[in-house]
Amino acid sequence: MYNEKVLEAFRNPKNVGEVENYDGLGKVGNASCGDIMQITLKIDNDVITDAKFKTFGCAAAIATSSTATQMVIGMTVDEALQLTNKKVVEELEGLPPQKIHCSVLAEEAIKAAIEDYRNKKQGIVKPEEEPKMV
Ligand code: FES
Repeated sequence: MYNEKVLEAFRNPKNVGEVENYDGLGKVGNASCGDIMQITLKIDNDVITDAKFKTFGCAAAIATSSTATQMVIGMTVDEALQLTNKKVVEELEGLPPQKIHCSVLAEEAIKAAIEDYRNKKQGIVKPEEEPKMV
């Protein structure tokens, strides 16, 4: 069902865990299956210098988390906001149609982490929330 590139990203995921002293945290849930993804970002002068994920989810969710974190490291936050689930799926050379919805989590978690970073920069600190369901 999965291609080799997806299987490799699932079996040997990169950037698993939580960035120490992160600048932004995004946590989202998939409304259709209940799976949860958290992405933390280290951001220096609006450039993402580190990204890590924790995903309670399927192989596609783990493979897309791993790939998305690899893709955003080195990007500015504005560039990372342009990263769509479609681009992550292209990087993985495709997902089965019924697993495309799983790739939305990574895009949304990165956006949520950047929003958290921008809020903190403006002095807005929100209490830990339940994951936003997407
Ligand atoms: Fe839930 Fe893939 S089945 S994220």
